[in-house]
Amino acid sequence: MDERILTQNSLAEDNFDNRIRPQTLDEYIGQSENKENLSIFIKAAKMRGEPLDHVLLYGPPGLGKTTLAGIIANELGVNIKTSSGPAIEKSGDLAAVLSSLEEGDVLFIDEIHRIPRFVEEILYSAMEDYTLDIIVGNDSSSRSIKIDLPPFTLVGATTRAGDLTSPLRDRFGITCKLNFYNQNELKMIANRTSRVLDCPITDDAALELALRSRGTPRITNRLFKRVRDYALVMGDGKIDINIAKIALDKLKVDRLGLDDTDYHLLKSIIDRFNGGPVGIEAIASSIGEEQSTIEDVYEPYLLQIGLLKRTSRGRMVTEKAYEHLNIPYNKKS
Ligand SMILES: Nc1ncnc2c1ncn2[C@@H]1O[C@H](COP(=O)(O)OP(=O)(O)OP(=O)(O)O)[C@@H](O)[C@H]1O
Ligand SMILES: [Mg+2]
Repeated sequence: MDERILTQNSLAEDNFDNRIRPQTLDEYIGQSENKENLSIFIKAAKMRGEPLDHVLLYGPPGLGKTTLAGIIANELGVNIKTSSGPAIEKSGDLAAVLSSLEEGDVLFIDEIHRIPRFVEEILYSAMEDYTLDIIVGNDSSSRSIKIDLPPFTLVGATTRAGDLTSPLRDRFGITCKLNFYNQNELKMIANRTSRVLDCPITDDAALELALRSRGTPRITNRLFKRVRDYALVMGDGKIDINIAKIALDKLKVDRLGLDDTDYHLLKSIIDRFNGGPVGIEAIASSIGEEQSTIEDVYEPYLLQIGLLKRTSRGRMVTEKAYEHLNIPYNKKS
């Protein structure tokens, strides 16, 4: 099997990530509504001896979609096979992935919105009645063949649910939207990472990390890693509030978790577009980032905390953002 199309376990993940990644629903912090639902559906599927219905996970990067896919397989007690939208370029790639499945497997397809449309159609019958419909042969002698697949569960992840076609979206029986985490949940995640890595952190330092994580567990863990280095070199290895503050200031994440790019983005809307409204394309070219990166990575959090708002005429910087950036706000008429 082509390693690029299908990886049995996530080889790309470094050791750090694997150690701190929760393995069960109980260890998975926050997202309580999703967890409760999944737990019931998983139990029911096991009681019936049937595969779990297909699951679509969506939400901004770093909120735990890949983690949750692994947990679903774990809780079902089945193997997980992993692929991703960008790796599936041709019908044959998807056919190879599907025909490698064994009964009950979870097939995790990350960035599922990036599967080309003409390839995606193969998924429809695979999801609906576990058959693989493929065309074999060349133009003059092509015929369609049907291959039975073992029952399996597709778990798809995407940062952009809106980019899925409706035939694909409709074939997922279970949909989980992941939301940004609150301070308390992020603090629990920092404490959990501290336990797993055996690196002590004080309560106020864990809260400080949480505050600056822009609602995102991946950022909590990334900051934890860096702060841990400061604690080791500048202190006795224990993360306290002073070390945390020094480290986080050096890393240039502010009290709201904003980094240089966020500042750049907000400031350029203020300086060049008088605070907006301005279209996303203009923002992207003004700060030299991809439009999709702004939409997927930066904007969701800025909207969530109310520094940016969307209007019919484009994005606008809010009064709160002017305050946060210490720039005088001239109310617009
Ligand atoms: N609910 C959670 N509880 C504890 N840790 C979590 C939780 N969710 C995510 N994490 C941690 O956050 C990190 C990022 O999670 P993950 O890789 O699953 O995000 P993702 O949504 O798949 O991101 P992407 O969209 O970029 O693929 C991991 O290191 C994981 O350990
Ligand atoms: Mg992921």
